[in-house]
Amino acid sequence: GAPVKADISKLEVGQQMIVEWRGQPVWVVRRSTQSVADLSKLNDQLADPTSTVEQQPDYAQNEHRSINPEIAVLLGICTHLGCSPTYRPEIAPEDLGEKWLGGFNCPCHGSRFDLAGRVYKGVPAPTNLVVPPHRFIDDSVIEVG
Ligand code: FES
Repeated sequence: GAPVKADISKLEVGQQMIVEWRGQPVWVVRRSTQSVADLSKLNDQLADPTSTVEQQPDYAQNEHRSINPEIAVLLGICTHLGCSPTYRPEIAPEDLGEKWLGGFNCPCHGSRFDLAGRVYKGVPAPTNLVVPPHRFIDDSVIEVG
């Protein structure tokens, strides 16, 4: 499939937009500075906090799994059996309560991921979400693919 462009100029902090690429949803989320700073607090709860499994391009193999720390670009497909997880910026999955710092919850079998798409320990999904190939055309437009 051809690359697709997304205008992120109107994407506000905390918001998610979904663009379609190769018939699949790609999420773009503008994370707050606080959310980016909070990512390291979660490491001991995550299965692969440093993204050792190649689920991302080299340029996204860092703690925030992205080019620009505030902009997450993730393939919105659960790495368990392919459902599409739900963006949960605030409301925690039942058992996580106030420890939840935002992320994605899969409705099918309860896998959950943080705001960098890193999978929590103890859920069915075996790996972090995929970061699709992408680049910034300029500050407000990204190209996926
Ligand atoms: Fe997401 Fe099974 S498909 S937890």
